[in-house]
Amino acid sequence: MQTPVKGHIARRATEITPFLAMELMERAKTLELEGREIIYLCLGEPDFPTPEPIVKAAQKAMLAGETRYTHSLGRIELREAIAEHYQKRYKVTVDPEQVIVSSGTSPLMMLLFAALCNPDDEVILTDPGYACYPNFIRFVGAKPRFFTNPAGAGVSATARRRAPVDQRQNQSPADQLAGKPGRVNPLASRTCNTCRTADPAGLG
Ligand SMILES: Cc1ncc(COP(=O)(O)O)c(C=O)c1O
Repeated sequence: MQTPVKGHIARRATEITPFLAMELMERAKTLELEGREIIYLCLGEPDFPTPEPIVKAAQKAMLAGETRYTHSLGRIELREAIAEHYQKRYKVTVDPEQVIVSSGTSPLMMLLFAALCNPDDEVILTDPGYACYPNFIRFVGAKPRFFTNPAGAGVSATARRRAPVDQRQNQSPADQLAGKPGRVNPLASRTCNTCRTADPAGLG
């Protein structure tokens, strides 16, 4: 691969730290090509092949010429099916208009932070947490702040649902923690509030 011309890469791109889990997997792949037997424990993905009906449906669709641009939010039939799944499985009513289909979580999380964060906004993340989110946040000019969960506690979907809607959207995370007034992104604030008020008995 040709080395990019120095100075042509945006500074923010050069300041992003590597995603170590991927680096580890790439190293493992290299060792595998060298003949080493590798058990992959570095990424969270199924250890079985994609089920045959999925592979066959993808083949059928491609042979039928379904390889063109779709609606920018994803095919409406798929978005309707996803909304139906949420209704049936989780009893949550989601309008298909609220569903966006993408090729993974990461691109949408990038878009989400880009849509929600202004430069220098602070977003509170749990620590430990998913390693890429701090970089997504930095990439859009905002600042990740870390909230360390007390030992034995966690933040589950149950706790998030139970957490009260934040009453203090005008406080910064630091000020919330210190009990002072300020300003904060509501998403960050809600997460912070969840961490502060989650009932340990309700944590899954
Ligand atoms: C919390 C979380 N967010 C995002 C991702 C990345 O998902 P994707 O590979 O679909 O971009 C992962 C992957 O493990 C994850 O655990």
